[in-house]
Amino acid sequence: MKLGVCYYPEHWPEDRWAEDARLMRESGLSVVRIGEFAWSRIEPEPGRFEWDWLDRAVDVLHAEGLRIIMGTPTATPPKWLVDRMPDMVALDREGKPRGFGSRRHYCFSHDGYRDEAARITRAVAERYGQHPAVTAWQTDNEYGCHDTVQSFSPAARDAFRVWLAERYECVDALNEAWGNVFWSMEYRSFDEVELPNLAVTEANPAHWLAFRRFSSDQVVRFNRVQVEILRELSPGRDITHNAMGFYTGYDHHDLAADLDVLGWDSYPLGFLEMFRFSEEDKTRFAHCGHPDIAAFHHDLYRGCAKDGRWSVLEQQPGPVNWARHNPAPLPGMVRLWTLEAYAHGAELVSYFRWRQFPKAQEQMHAGLLRPDASPAPALAEVRSTADNLADLGAADEAEKQAVLVFDYQAEWMTQIQPQGEGKSALWAAFHCYSALRRLGLNVDIVHPDEPLNGYALVVLPCLPIVSEPLAANLDAFKGGIVIGPRTGSREENFAIPATLPPGKLEALMGGRIVLSESWRDGLAIKGDGWRATGWFDHYEGDAIPDMTGTDGRVACWKHGTTRYAACWPQGSFIERVVERAAQDAGLSASVLPDHIRRRRCGNRVFTFDYLAATVSHARAE
Ligand code: GAL
Repeated sequence: MKLGVCYYPEHWPEDRWAEDARLMRESGLSVVRIGEFAWSRIEPEPGRFEWDWLDRAVDVLHAEGLRIIMGTPTATPPKWLVDRMPDMVALDREGKPRGFGSRRHYCFSHDGYRDEAARITRAVAERYGQHPAVTAWQTDNEYGCHDTVQSFSPAARDAFRVWLAERYECVDALNEAWGNVFWSMEYRSFDEVELPNLAVTEANPAHWLAFRRFSSDQVVRFNRVQVEILRELSPGRDITHNAMGFYTGYDHHDLAADLDVLGWDSYPLGFLEMFRFSEEDKTRFAHCGHPDIAAFHHDLYRGCAKDGRWSVLEQQPGPVNWARHNPAPLPGMVRLWTLEAYAHGAELVSYFRWRQFPKAQEQMHAGLLRPDASPAPALAEVRSTADNLADLGAADEAEKQAVLVFDYQAEWMTQIQPQGEGKSALWAAFHCYSALRRLGLNVDIVHPDEPLNGYALVVLPCLPIVSEPLAANLDAFKGGIVIGPRTGSREENFAIPATLPPGKLEALMGGRIVLSESWRDGLAIKGDGWRATGWFDHYEGDAIPDMTGTDGRVACWKHGTTRYAACWPQGSFIERVVERAAQDAGLSASVLPDHIRRRRCGNRVFTFDYLAATVSHARAE
């Protein structure tokens, strides 16, 4: 695994670049990511390119032997472009334009902007596609950041109509599939379909799901235009993109199918502050991050990536600027996060960023250097981590133990129709993942159509649509299976299956769900050392009770080697379900303290102690 850094030569005087490059190399960094926001410097006026400065920056980095990941600058279209084409900006849910003044101010469906993005990509690729230092490309930057995948613009509406016509062929098929007879929502032509944002109350969930699928497809299409240009002009170089944390706005499996390497941006402390963790955990783990945040994404994106190739393209080296509170990592955390990425199979960890820029939006965001160019604490840690990595050599393959099945549209569906506050397929997946990791297990996260061979335990946290391949793979699966609520509860167009949930999984579960309740936290089934809440599915069939509460209600059912969690998969309840399933599946599983995690690679076992910020590794017995 290599180490790298995100660098913005355009922020600094040219006479500093050589010193920066030398210091990077001496710090053990061998990869530099540049260029992704530099459009206004590359093309200051329409059609007038200024390459000299970037040529020299590339040469300076090359002279130090650094390899370059060049970004296409399409996340930051310059002012002159927006002024020429004002309707290229996205419109938000309320119909307001998302204007110039920061970044990502474009609509994925705007044909004119897509052409401009292709034009600048071609220009950059023509210039650097064959440069020996440029070994990889990053398309754009963080698709979807600042909530920018969905656009409610006229361009999006028109493209949505075309997308629907291709998918449903005749509008009666759409009316039928969506159940538009309800509330007189029937259309006479695709041209009558509006976007789902401005309806008086909730729009048809099938309408929203179609719009979410469409919006995701638009991202993939936008990206593909760049990929094709880069493949033509810079053959043999890897193409990557940087995904985000806890972000599901587009289908990453689809995007990754066009990339060589899927990257992601790891900000464990920022994510802890901004996402759904208890106040207690936010305080307890404030300086190290919750121990499953980074690993969950490593495993998720490895599973999305074509051929399993993935990287961390941005790694927090100190406080960020964008969370509710922005603490510093403990000494040792930059090393821990880096080695954890290594143990999960990353090809690269690249720190964001080289030097803290004293101006503009991210002036409070740390870098490896302070604004005055003196070293920030992380720089020495990076240097010593590079030495650790050199000693470790290539990571061994991780043993297959448990596998979790995740699908982006599952999260879209639970967002569209949560049915109970906060009931999210993504967070169900995170909680199941966390429960498996507390048992010290290696966890893979895979797309529903992936084969399940070789695993002892498969977990479906919450998967409303069950695909044919998944149903067939589960039928043939010999190990333990854990199925969470809402799984199999919907068909392709959001309808409840004619045979009731779990639809295709009825035989596996030996019965059906005849009623689903969602519960406020005060409503719960309590058992010996566990408490189940949030949701309650009423099951009818041949399964036997596996976990029964003191009041006699069944929170988990068992049919053969399949368990059905009838309550929301979270907390002590899912920990107990997963522990029982792991034991039955023959996985040696004892519960780790909440701040310790393990990963077994070949015959080496890594132990990560988050609160102590230490990593150790030993040969397994
Ligand atoms: C990422 C983004 C970077 C930078 C960073 C700050 O989301 O890709 O450009 O803004 O956050 O943490």
